Amino acid sequence: MRIPSAAVAAVITLAGLAVAAVAASAAGPTGPGAPLEARGDSIAHGRYLVTISGCHDCHTAGHLQSGGHAPASDWLTGQTVGFQGPWGTTYPANLRLTVQSMTETQWLVFARAEKRPPMPWFNLKEMSDRDLTDIYRFIRSLGPAGKPAPAAVPPGGKVNTPFIVFEPQNLGGHTVTQVMPPKSEPRG
Ligand code: HEC
Repeated sequence: MRIPSAAVAAVITLAGLAVAAVAASAAGPTGPGAPLEARGDSIAHGRYLVTISGCHDCHTAGHLQSGGHAPASDWLTGQTVGFQGPWGTTYPANLRLTVQSMTETQWLVFARAEKRPPMPWFNLKEMSDRDLTDIYRFIRSLGPAGKPAPAAVPPGGKVNTPFIVFEPQNLGGHTVTQVMPPKSEPRG
């Protein structure tokens, strides 16, 4: 059977690309310009996970407003604009300070523990040890910066900061049930 030479060329090209891809990943990520998906390096992979899983959306001031261009110096330093709902008013924590006070092992327990809305703690709970550890290492690599986020205010309490009302409006006949916060108060 004759194999068309174009097909042979295509196979050789694909093989070449695969080799190039392996070589690139073996080289490992270097610096801020490195490909986000680089898997070989824990910190680079943590940066990738933090970016695609939306941590900056809440924990980095100005991230949403700037279309994802908040300066690295502000990354994960928390918010002073609260989220208000039936749980009271909560503030995305300064994660760069949070990780300073815990070991990797403590982080694995803490990151998976229940937190008040709108923190999607249930998503972190499903992450593998490896992914959570990579996130921890990435946040640690940024170093401590900023101030602690304001303390959460219980429902009906006086709020001294700007806040976003994070409740469905115009419900008409629809009902939405909000799972209420844990009994044991988390930090932050
Ligand atoms: C929708 C907004 C939102 C998103 C997205 C979000 N968080 Fe949070 N996060 C919060 C809020 C609000 C709190 C404070 C909760 C409380 O007071 O109980 C918080 C608290 C935390 C805490 C507890 C910190 C402390 O010191 O108490 C950790 C850890 C955390 N978030 C990690 C993450 C990570 C990692 C991601 C990305 C995978 C993420 N969060 C995404 C809003 C968010």
